[in-house]
Amino acid sequence: MIERTLVLLKPDAVQRSLMGEVLTRFERVGLKMVACRMVWVDKAFSKQHYAEHVSKPFYPGLESLITQGPVLAFVLEGVDAIEVVRKMVGPTEPKGAAPGTIRGDFAHVSYAHADERKIGIKNLIHASANKDDAKKEIALWFKADELHSYKTVHDMHVLE
Ligand code: RTP
Ligand code: MG
Repeated sequence: MIERTLVLLKPDAVQRSLMGEVLTRFERVGLKMVACRMVWVDKAFSKQHYAEHVSKPFYPGLESLITQGPVLAFVLEGVDAIEVVRKMVGPTEPKGAAPGTIRGDFAHVSYAHADERKIGIKNLIHASANKDDAKKEIALWFKADELHSYKTVHDMHVLE
C-alpha cells in the first residue's frame, strides 16, 4: 500500500514561484519526498515522458510549455500515494478543478481558451496516473541511487 509517485512542478509553477506553497501541501498531509531534481527538459525528453500523447493534436502546445523553463521533479512516498496525489492535484482542466485542489486553487483557464489561442493549457503540475506510469516515470527521471529511504516524524503516525 505504500507507493511512490512522480510529480513535476511544470515551468508555469516554477516561474510563478509556487514551488514552496505546493510542496507545503504535500508535506502537510504527511507524504514523504524521497527524491528531487530541477531539470530543463528538452524536446526529446518531453517525447519520452509524454510518449502516450505525442501523436495527439495538443502535443505541440504541451511540448512548448514543458520545455520553456526548468521543472521541479520529485518523488513522493506514502499510503496510496498515486491516488492521493492525483486527488490533491485535481483534474487536467483548471476551469473544472475544484477549489482545494492545486489546479483549482492556483489556475483557472479552460481548454476552450487554450485552443482558441493555440497554446498549451497551463495546469502547473504533473502527477503519475497509475502504478505502471509511476514505475516507468520514476525510472525515467531518477537513477536508483537518487531515491532515498529515511524516516520522517510522520512515520510514527502512519506506520504504528
Ligand atoms: P499530467 O499528465 O500532466 O499530469 O496531466 P493529466 O494526467 O491530468 O492529463 P493528460 O491527459 O495526461 O495530459 C497531459 C497534459 O497535456 C496537456 N493537455 N492538453 N488541450 C488539451 O486538450 C490537452 N489535454 C491535455 C495538459 O498540460 C496535461 O496536463
Ligand atoms: Mg497524464
